[in-house]
Formats: sequence, C-alpha cells, structure tokens
Amino acid sequence: MEAKLRDELFQQAKEWVLQAGATIRRKIDDPLNIDTKSNPNDLVTTMDKDTEAFFAKKIRDAYPSHLILSEEGFGDDLSTMDGTIWIIDPIDGTMNFVHQKRNFAISIGIYHDGIGEIGLIYNVMDDVLYSAQRTQGAFKNEVEIPKLDPNVPLHESILSFNHFWLCENRLVHEKEMQRLVKTVRGTRTYGSAALEFAYTAEGIVDGYLTMSLAPWDIAAGMVIINEVGGVTTTADGNPVNMLTKNSIFTCNPCVQQEILEDFLIKGKK
Ligand code: IPD
Ligand code: CA
Ligand code: CA
Ligand code: CA
Repeated sequence: MEAKLRDELFQQAKEWVLQAGATIRRKIDDPLNIDTKSNPNDLVTTMDKDTEAFFAKKIRDAYPSHLILSEEGFGDDLSTMDGTIWIIDPIDGTMNFVHQKRNFAISIGIYHDGIGEIGLIYNVMDDVLYSAQRTQGAFKNEVEIPKLDPNVPLHESILSFNHFWLCENRLVHEKEMQRLVKTVRGTRTYGSAALEFAYTAEGIVDGYLTMSLAPWDIAAGMVIINEVGGVTTTADGNPVNMLTKNSIFTCNPCVQQEILEDFLIKGKK
C-alpha cells in the first residue's frame, strides 16, 4: 500500500477508534446486556455489538471497496486476504469489560493483500493507544516504542499466558509447561490478547503464548510487534494463517528459539 494512502487510512481509523472508546467510557456504568455464545463463559454484550456496528457503518460509508473481518457478525465472509481488509475486535477482553470495567481494548488491524499495514490497540479505560504503520515504528500514544532489548536471558524473562496451559491440554505436555514456569522469572495473565501483544511490544512482558485465537485477536498486535522487532508464530513455530484460528506465540526474538525448541516443540503432544 502506498505510504500516503496508508497514512490517511491510519489517521481515519485512529479517529474512529478514539471516538468509539470515548463512547464506551461514557457508558461504562450503564446497565449491561450480557449474552453468552459458545459456552457460559463466552460473553458478549450489546456494547461489543454496537461498537462493531459503529465501525462497520463508518467503513462501508467511507470505503465501500474495503472488506471487514470481525467478531460479532457485522463483517464479510472472506476466503482470501486479497484487497484491503479491516480486521476488527470491537472489545477484546469482554470478560474483563463485564467483570472489571477495565483491562479491555479495541483492536483493529488493516491488511492489504495479506500484508499488515496498520495496527491500533486502544486500552479504552486507560486512554492508551498502541499503534503502528508498517515500516514506520510503533507508538504508545505519541511516544515511539523502542526496539526490543536484544539481551533478555530466558531466566530473566516474564511470559504471559493463561493457566489452562498448566492443566491437561491438547497441545503441550503439562510437565514441560510447569518446567517453563519454573525457568522464567515470572508469568502473568491479563485476559486480553490484544493488550498482551501490546505489552510484549512494549517489552513489559517478553512473550505471550495462547492456545487458540481468531484473526481479530491478533491482527493489530502482529503489525505493532513487528515494528519493534518482535516475532509471531503458532505455538509450534509455524507461520500464522490470518483466515483461521491459530495457536500463537509472540515474543522478543531472543527468547523465541529456546522456548519453542526446549519447551513447546519438545513437549508437543
Ligand atoms: C478473548 C480474549 C482472551 C483470550 C480469548 C479471546 P474476546 O477475546 O482475548 O484474552 O484468551 O481467547 O477470545 O472474546 O474477549 O474478544
Ligand atoms: Ca468474544
Ligand atoms: Ca478477542
Ligand atoms: Ca471481542
């Protein structure tokens, strides 16, 4: 995508994200209308749907040739990554939104012919926007995020993942995951994939590992993390497919090989 066009799109997307975030903040104490989807812990609210509808309308009015890939049903059915695609998670971390009224984000990645061009992750309640355009660096609000530290030894790293990795699971033997927990300096779990990508880009955690994420959970994060020198693969080290669900391991490259080879691939079921 041509740089000038990308920058215009970036400014527009940013304006809409900030606008949608301000609406959510204004309504944060309104009574919630909560539904469940695939299971009783898979929550969705009218705020998720209204926020996605807001973006879909804006995009379809302003850019009728663009496509939308999104969580709550206002997008298109896509079978290729051709064209300009807005990959949208209106609220990432809905459980946090419902239970905590914080620690959730709006996440938008804009891809052109399969290449991630723009990433926006907005921590709504903290009013912090992580953003990037391909080749232009990553930013936390208006401040550029430095490249990742190339010298983080695994035993001084912090990893983000949820506790299901330590229960019996279908991907990696629990014993290897327990050994990983004991090897690193610390582990965290935040409940918003988008924010966990942003924190990895910021270098406040050194990697984020997850069993199954949809394209809208990762699209923006992958653009942002690329800009600071981070790397993203599936949990067994393969390339990510933006049209399906994937396991995900995104991290500082200096811990990538050791975690992949000595723990994730070694312990693979
Ligand atoms: C979820 C969050 C969560 C992750 C789930 C996602 P949602 O997204 O990112 O941290 O563990 O796999 O589905 O449903 O809150 O947008
Ligand atoms: Ca959801
Ligand atoms: Ca999500
Ligand atoms: Ca969501």
